[in-house]
Amino acid sequence: MDESGVSNGNRIDDHDHIIVFDTTLRDGEQSPGAALNVTEKLEIARVLEAMKVDVIEAGFPISSPGDFKAVQVISQEIRDCVICGLTRAREGDIDAAAEALKNAARPRIHTGLGVSDVHIRYKLRTTREGALEMGVNAVRYAKRFVDDVQYYTEDAGRADPDYLYHVLESVIDAGATVVNIPDTTGYTSPEEFGLLIRGILNNVPNIDRAIISVHCHNDLGLATANTLAGVRNGARQVEVTVNGIGERAGNASFEEVVMALKTRRDFFGFDSRIDTTRLYPVSRLVSHLTSIPVQPNKAIVGSNAFAHSSGIHQDGVLKERTTYEIINPRDVGVPDSEIILSARSGRHGLRHRLSELGYELGDEKFEKVYHRFLEVADKKKTVETRDLEAIVADEAEMFFQETYHLEHIQISCGDHSIPTATVRIKGPDGQIYCDSDHGTGPVDAVCRAIDRVIGEPNDLIEFSIEAITEGIDAVGRVTIRIRTDEPVNGEARTVFSGRGTDNDIVVASARAYMFALNRLIAARRESHRA
Ligand code: KIV
Ligand code: ZN
Repeated sequence: MDESGVSNGNRIDDHDHIIVFDTTLRDGEQSPGAALNVTEKLEIARVLEAMKVDVIEAGFPISSPGDFKAVQVISQEIRDCVICGLTRAREGDIDAAAEALKNAARPRIHTGLGVSDVHIRYKLRTTREGALEMGVNAVRYAKRFVDDVQYYTEDAGRADPDYLYHVLESVIDAGATVVNIPDTTGYTSPEEFGLLIRGILNNVPNIDRAIISVHCHNDLGLATANTLAGVRNGARQVEVTVNGIGERAGNASFEEVVMALKTRRDFFGFDSRIDTTRLYPVSRLVSHLTSIPVQPNKAIVGSNAFAHSSGIHQDGVLKERTTYEIINPRDVGVPDSEIILSARSGRHGLRHRLSELGYELGDEKFEKVYHRFLEVADKKKTVETRDLEAIVADEAEMFFQETYHLEHIQISCGDHSIPTATVRIKGPDGQIYCDSDHGTGPVDAVCRAIDRVIGEPNDLIEFSIEAITEGIDAVGRVTIRIRTDEPVNGEARTVFSGRGTDNDIVVASARAYMFALNRLIAARRESHRA
């Protein structure tokens, strides 16, 4: 034990920092409707590498050709992180992962299966002994391809601890280098979960030969707390996702866990290697690409995380920041909100501001952003940081080739008229197509008019709208999800999302719909190629 009460944990001699295992691209992408294409995953992986993530779980290679390709491409390009691929405890899964990881500088296979009786009996339909044998065989098989094998004990939070200890001892003997203890259903409380990790340290005789990893879900809102309790009790790897996205209520949030370790190093005894100034930009990128908004009061990266509204608090912060702020917003990359731009700022001013915000855009992307910026500035007079981020997200963070480009829309509506929309769209052949339709409202009319040109069957399953900044002239952001019943990338029903921003919410809706449709078309093309 050290003076903070933290036991030595395991393999601590090798690690003076907590290992950050990011699973945004695997568990995070399992959030409904979050589907990312290969280029988008690679872009996120590049940012994770730049921020010094230790391990990137890049996907579940057997699950679809798209996942396989993503693991393969990320393995080829990302050299500074361990790249991990998930498998079930099956040889076919492990073969696929080994193939996808073939070119990784440091490949890791993540295999495993359930340890709770409910999983063993109902999901795996076997016995404890049968499940143990499958797990040990899977580790031995994975060891034929890679040295670094991580074993997950699914639903460990609800398992019999004695059986769990026995499984861990056996898989470590078989060669597992990391043992992952997931609270798959988000069932445990921090004290319980901490005791579980402590119990593993005290009862698994060969635990010094593996690193303990914790993987907590957020069904009771305790994922971050449980992860940190794991660290307090000997875990040395944390599994997290950006913005806490993931199955159901999500996973432990990357930014919360990392900032808790940094801010309370005195208590936890460890920090991570993460460059925390990139937390805010990566949060915005993931939110944009998955079309999953960040709630305003979200710790660390929410738009209100550093806003002080009560007079007493404002007074305190103005006198001395630390009266009400335990984190300097700059340490997590939150931009200075006072700086605003207008149409007079020019290209130079815009480029300068973008670079302060961490965006280094090529000339072509910059020009697109500049034109949209002028449009917004004309209507809104001053363009705030949040507006600018939304414009960049729309124009520069599109990691697929647009097949159809919306050139122009015109709407007519009112309380006694039939909502009608006309669209002009540039097609893949460079030709301009014009068409019109009417609908129950202006958004319906514009989507129907777009459908008449593009003709890609889908169901619109979600439509939401939010104001990016305050005031009547605020820029509106529309999120749309569409579903296709024709298989894409080996998956029977697939959901694609799109986001669009504009001062005019019907235009924002048209942009969002076009974004989602173009994504669907790009995925279909990728899937045909695969
Ligand atoms: O939640 C879980 O148990 C998982 C495993 C596959 C690691 O995601
Ligand atoms: Zn999980």
